[in-house]
Amino acid sequence: AIGPVKKICCIGAGYVGGPTMAMIAHQCHDIEVKVVDINAQRIAQWNSDELPIYEPGLDEIVKGRRDQNLVFTTEVDEAIRDADMIFISVNTPTKTFGVGAGRAANLEFIEKCARKIAEVSIGHKIVVEKSTLPVRTAEAVKAILAEATSGATFDVLSNPEFLAEGTAVDDLLAPDRVLIGGESDAAVQALVEVYAQWVPRERLLTTNLWSSELSKLTANAFLAQRVSSINSISALCEATEADVDEVAMAIGMDSRIGPKFLKASVGFGGSCFQKDILNLVYLCEYFGLPEVADYWQQVVTMNDYQKRRFVHRMVRTMFNTVSDKKIAIWGFAFKKDTNDTRESAAIYVCRDLLLEKARLSIYDPQVTKAQVVANLEAVFKNGDQEISNVSRQLIENNVEVVSDAETAATSAHAIAVLTEWDEFATADFEKIRELMQKPAFVFDGRNTLKSLGLEKLGFDYQGIGFSR
Ligand code: NAD
Ligand code: UGA
Repeated sequence: AIGPVKKICCIGAGYVGGPTMAMIAHQCHDIEVKVVDINAQRIAQWNSDELPIYEPGLDEIVKGRRDQNLVFTTEVDEAIRDADMIFISVNTPTKTFGVGAGRAANLEFIEKCARKIAEVSIGHKIVVEKSTLPVRTAEAVKAILAEATSGATFDVLSNPEFLAEGTAVDDLLAPDRVLIGGESDAAVQALVEVYAQWVPRERLLTTNLWSSELSKLTANAFLAQRVSSINSISALCEATEADVDEVAMAIGMDSRIGPKFLKASVGFGGSCFQKDILNLVYLCEYFGLPEVADYWQQVVTMNDYQKRRFVHRMVRTMFNTVSDKKIAIWGFAFKKDTNDTRESAAIYVCRDLLLEKARLSIYDPQVTKAQVVANLEAVFKNGDQEISNVSRQLIENNVEVVSDAETAATSAHAIAVLTEWDEFATADFEKIRELMQKPAFVFDGRNTLKSLGLEKLGFDYQGIGFSR
């Protein structure tokens, strides 16, 4: 018989494992939650004053429960052995090698977790897939667990996470739904009872394992598809004097379409949208559905086009050359209120500007120089083991990272807004125009400065999906 969950172990102390487990510990004081990771530095950061991830409201929740019923540790084996429920929340990046390279999910870390759980477990455990996984992964997880030599037994559940970065705490506090897929009613109920401590029961949705696994990839594909759809229309708006924000408003008021996720931008980023769609495309091909694969591939193709298009427009507007011009990059994170830069559109925009021989002065309130340089080096490596000396020099000689937006704009020919941080809209633009070269260009990849009347202040202002 499966009793109420008393001890949870979560493998993976990342953007998902950290916040979700902190929320469980915050809501369920009688559950002991241990978050484990093989990355000792990350665990040390979770145990320090400065948490490894920036997320509004997270500090308070973590610091409120830490060392009470919330523990961050590298003692993986012990935490697994003691727990009745084990979440797997490790990374599932796009494969960079071998079969399916560039599209399929790399399940190496998932498989290692399953093998570790099989190796050290005793008694009965509920294993919960929290990571985003291709549909049918639970089959492999079950097969590995079935080989446990200790006689341990397992139930496997799928419980994908729908939080968005920057709003993780709010999303976890009041989720639209919590999805739990499983085969054993008792195991499903055990997890339902954890969430029922704070989530209304009508929002706890239970399905079969495969629907749950597939729903996560599908949700991200639908969300990203809306962004690519509106971004495709933004290109048409720029050619026709229509305004994409007006079009978005007009279509979003149709309750069948709805207003959310219709904000045109320089392109979606983040660790998941592209990875998950590519994974969906790969799965469709694997299951012999090339038309379905092509349909979803277009969402990513459109996103790449949107990022390229932004740089082309900058170069065209600045008299067809940005060579040796200083460009202020405002924002490097993939969205506001996060320090995460994975797959940020800014990386690709900066790469293309560097290839045009521009000089970049980058400011983001939450992103360090080391992170910017690491991201740029990785994109110039382009899958190779080593970055070429030429590329390294290009970055070293032409990229500076500064600590405020005004410094970035000083003597710049243009500002490119790549993340919608609130502080950018309250900058002193009269002063900034004085500091800049003239004509002073602003290219707003987020339309955050659109209502400020920058043209009246003497800027040449351009945003996404409108022409003035
Ligand atoms: P992350 O890279 O921030 O964290 C993963 C952690 O797992 C790392 O700290 C890594 O060291 C650790 N790890 C890897 N293998 C391990 C092992 N064998 N034992 C112990 N620790 C191990 O990743 P993330 O952003 O938290 O994403 C995790 C999963 O959640 C992914 O599948 C992702 O698609 C999914 N997801 C992410 C988000 C998001 O907003 N980032 C949202 C929903 C779902
Ligand atoms: C996304 C989903 O929203 C989450 O539900 C999901 O759990 C998560 O992926 C995941 O699986 O990792 P996240 O990537 O953190 O969350 O952030 P989003 O708010 O979805 O933004 C993604 C990107 O789309 C950002 O670059 C954002 O700027 C861009 N975006 C979003 C737009 O350009 N326009 C919009 O209207 C909305």
